[in-house]
Amino acid sequence: MAKRMQREKWASKIGLILALAGNAIGLGNFLRFPVQAAENGGGAFMIPYFVALIVIGIPLMWAECAIGRMGGRHGHGHTAGMFEVMWRHPLSKYLGMLGVVIPFAVALYYIYITAWTLAYSYFSLTGNYFGITTREAMGAYLRGFQGVEPNQFFSSIGPAYLSFLITLGLSFYIVYRGIPGGIERLGKIAMPLLFLIGVALAVRVLTLGTPDPNYPENNVLNGLGFVWNPQPERLTDATIWLAAAGQIFFTLSVATGAIPTYASYMREEDDVALTGLSTASLNELAEVVLGGTIAITAAVAFFGLAETEEIARKGAFNLGFQALPMIFQRIPLGQLFGGLWFLLLFFAGISSVVALTQPAMALFQDGFGWSRGKTTAVVLAALFLLCQPVIFFLKHGFLDELDFWVGTFGLSLFALIETIQFAWVFGMERGWEEITKGAAITVPRIFYYVIKYITPLFLLFILAAWAIQDVPEKLLMAGVRPEDVPYVWGARVLMIAILLGFGVLVKIASSKKEKGIRP
Ligand code: ALA
Repeated sequence: MAKRMQREKWASKIGLILALAGNAIGLGNFLRFPVQAAENGGGAFMIPYFVALIVIGIPLMWAECAIGRMGGRHGHGHTAGMFEVMWRHPLSKYLGMLGVVIPFAVALYYIYITAWTLAYSYFSLTGNYFGITTREAMGAYLRGFQGVEPNQFFSSIGPAYLSFLITLGLSFYIVYRGIPGGIERLGKIAMPLLFLIGVALAVRVLTLGTPDPNYPENNVLNGLGFVWNPQPERLTDATIWLAAAGQIFFTLSVATGAIPTYASYMREEDDVALTGLSTASLNELAEVVLGGTIAITAAVAFFGLAETEEIARKGAFNLGFQALPMIFQRIPLGQLFGGLWFLLLFFAGISSVVALTQPAMALFQDGFGWSRGKTTAVVLAALFLLCQPVIFFLKHGFLDELDFWVGTFGLSLFALIETIQFAWVFGMERGWEEITKGAAITVPRIFYYVIKYITPLFLLFILAAWAIQDVPEKLLMAGVRPEDVPYVWGARVLMIAILLGFGVLVKIASSKKEKGIRP
């Protein structure tokens, strides 16, 4: 009989909060949020955004921390095992398994984007792209780097691939060092640095004034106004409510499975309510204050409103990797500020990468009783292999297909399942007890009813709206170029294979436990 291994624990309360903040704060805060806000009504977006934070974000953060701490008590660091604790039914583990599949599949592309930020940090500090003066040429530079279109800037995907290998290696070194020795230490270093860099960049942006006196309307105030001025007429548009809810899932990492896994390493006396609230607050500070100030405001000050709208419409990469590098070329100490911007993204990215890989780590460690070394080697090898199509088929929409099904639709589906499991199957009485047990803050009783009724209803509405509005189009591959169709199918086959693969693993882990092979 395998000996039960002592599960690791966070070494300190501050370390736990910083690690959870690292889990939540990611590329989404600095790239996805400003684009979502700009595209979905500016200040009007902030109303559904805060509603979603209150009725989905914070309740789910509390529920997930409670589920995780409780799962850890029973020796489970993955949601498949945690769901079995909440509901002893053969189906339960397969529902919970989504909390392992989703982060693993998101990690397949998230790690590659994080790698770009590392490379761009180097390119900025060394002035590699300085002298490329149009957004079109910067776009070509990005495509050349990604290997999408070899050109005069990059003849091969080599530099991108090298940065991928470095990022993967570094992430796994951190994961291999374990919870207090690797992930907690990363949080303690990366989070303070991230906030320091973020504040420095925000101050730099806020003092840009009117960079070109010939265009007086291109200024910082108009930039802030672009993100914050409400367009109330947009509030009746369901799309912005969906976008806001999607952003809340993504940014807080709720419904990715990564939060319960981190919470499973809490001690029994660690406080779910305060930890959850502190994590959400730090994330919102990084997102709304820093993320809302840096990129879009700078873009408006240099390019004006109309061009910034076009930039935002073309997406987060256009803003982060094309527009901002143009700006760094026009300000004093631009190489340094460019380097800092991409370093900020790298810190945000890598601390989320390790969180996204941890549920799969926990499945092998807790479910199979494997050592950390063996688990790290297997998960690393699997990620390395499965990242290859994301890297090499980028131009064929492979990454986008994964992102929609896993990073958008998958999150809302798992959020709904998890809320029902927690509030209705496990029961809100017991759930509330788990959330409030040993809490240093008083959780307003109204959240008992919010989690029980409002959160699931809101989630049901979002899922239904997505299912009606986006899923048919996506399923039928509307807008996909004929030459990309096989690749999009490839992405779907990969997702199904990952789902089935984890299904088998979860079944084995569960039967090991039942047979008493693993206590
Ligand atoms: N929560 C992480 C982010 O915002 C995944 O990017």
